Amino acid sequence: MKTVNYGIVGTGYFGAGLARILNEIEGARVVAVYDPSHAEPVAKELNCDMEESVESLCSRSDVDAVIVASPNGYHKNPVLCAAEHGKHVFCEKPIALSYADCNEMIRKTKENGRVFMAGHVMNFMNGVRTAKQLINSGKIGEILFCHAERNGWEEAQPQVSWKKMREISGGHLYHHIHELDFIQFLMGPAERVTMVGGNVAHKGEQYGDEDDMLFLTLEFPGERYATLQYGSAFRWPDHFVKIQGSKGAILIDMQDVKVVLKTPEGEERFLLHESKEVDDDRTRIYKGLEMDGAIMYGKPSAMPPLWLQGIMKEEMAYFHHIMQGASVEDEFRPLLDGTAARASIATADALTLSLKEDRKVSVSEITNKGA
Ligand SMILES: NC(=O)c1ccc[n+]([C@@H]2O[C@H](COP(=O)([O-])OP(=O)(O)OC[C@H]3O[C@@H](n4cnc5c(N)ncnc54)[C@H](O)[C@@H]3O)[C@@H](O)[C@H]2O)c1
Repeated sequence: MKTVNYGIVGTGYFGAGLARILNEIEGARVVAVYDPSHAEPVAKELNCDMEESVESLCSRSDVDAVIVASPNGYHKNPVLCAAEHGKHVFCEKPIALSYADCNEMIRKTKENGRVFMAGHVMNFMNGVRTAKQLINSGKIGEILFCHAERNGWEEAQPQVSWKKMREISGGHLYHHIHELDFIQFLMGPAERVTMVGGNVAHKGEQYGDEDDMLFLTLEFPGERYATLQYGSAFRWPDHFVKIQGSKGAILIDMQDVKVVLKTPEGEERFLLHESKEVDDDRTRIYKGLEMDGAIMYGKPSAMPPLWLQGIMKEEMAYFHHIMQGASVEDEFRPLLDGTAARASIATADALTLSLKEDRKVSVSEITNKGA
C-alpha cells in the first residue's frame, strides 16, 4: 500500500487531534502543518515541517491530501487552494457558512477531480450505523418524523471564543450542523423550513453574539416533518435524535448514552460507540458537567474524550482508505464530494432567512439563487 502524505491547516484542538490520529495509521504520515498561532508545538510533536502559509503547504509536491481544521469561516480558502494544487481535501464541519461558498468549493474540487470529504463525524458512530441498518431492514417502517435536541447551558468564559461569534462560527445551527445533516441523510433534503429564536440569556461583553435558543421546523415531501432545537440557554441539557417511523421508533441518546429500538414487540438496546466502556465514559462526562463547549478550544494539547477519539479514528481511517485507492460506497458518495454538506448548509441558510424575515422559507429560494 502506498504511503499517503498529509498537510494540516489549523492545528488547534481538533486539527492537532486529527493529525495525531493520522500519524498513527499505517501508511499515513503528516508531513507539514500550518497554523498562524499553534503550528510550532504540533510540528515538533509530530516531527514534521511547519509551513508559513496555506499556499506554501498546499503547493508542496509531497503533500497528497490536506486536512482543513481552521475556524469554520476560514475553511473556504484552504479548500480552494488545496484543490488548485491538485490535492484531495478533508474539511471539518461546517464546510462553509453559506450555500454560495459550498458551491465554489465543490466546483473547484470537482474540476480538479479531487475528493472533498466533509467532517460529518456522526456518520462514523456505531449507533448511527446500527440505526441506519435497522431502518434499511424495515424495522421501523417509513420515517414520518424526526426530532433532535442539542441543548445545554454555557457560562461566561474569560475570553470569548471564535465559536461564539456568529460571523466566524455561524452560531449553534451551523457549528452543530451534525443533527440537521443526519436527519437530512435519513429523510432527504427539506423542502420548506421555519426557525424562531434569539439570544435570550447570553448578552454582554463576556459572551459572543450567537443566538442561544433556536427552534427549527423542517417540512419534507410526502407529509413528513422534523423539528430540532439548538442552544446554550437550556439549564436542562439534552442531546438526542428521535426517529419516529410507521412501525417503530429509534432513540439515539448522546447524553444518557444509548440507542434504543422501540417496536410493538418491546425495546431493544444497542451501543452508541464501540464498547460499553466508551458509552459509559461519555455518559459520565455529560452527567459530571465536564461538558461545555468553550473549554477545549484553541488548545492543541487538549485531548478529545474517548468517545470522540473513537469516531475521529474511524473517520480518518475511512478517509485514508479512500486516499489509498478504495472505492466509495454509494451511501458515502455525497459525504465524499461535499454535496451532503452543501445540502445541510442550504437548509441552514433557509432557516437563517426564515428567522431574519419572520416567515416560512422554501429551501429552493437558496438553491435556485446558487444555480
Ligand atoms: N467534528 C467535530 O466533532 C468537531 C469538534 C471540534 C471542532 N471541529 C471543527 O474543527 C475546526 C477547528 O475547531 P477547533 O475546536 O480545533 O478550534 P481551535 O480554536 O482549537 O483551533 C482552530 C485553529 O485554527 C487556527 N487558525 C485561525 N485562523 C486560521 C486560518 N486563517 N488558517 C488556518 N488556521 C487558522 C487557530 O490558530 C487555531 O489553532 C472547526 O471547523 C470546528 O467546527 C469539529
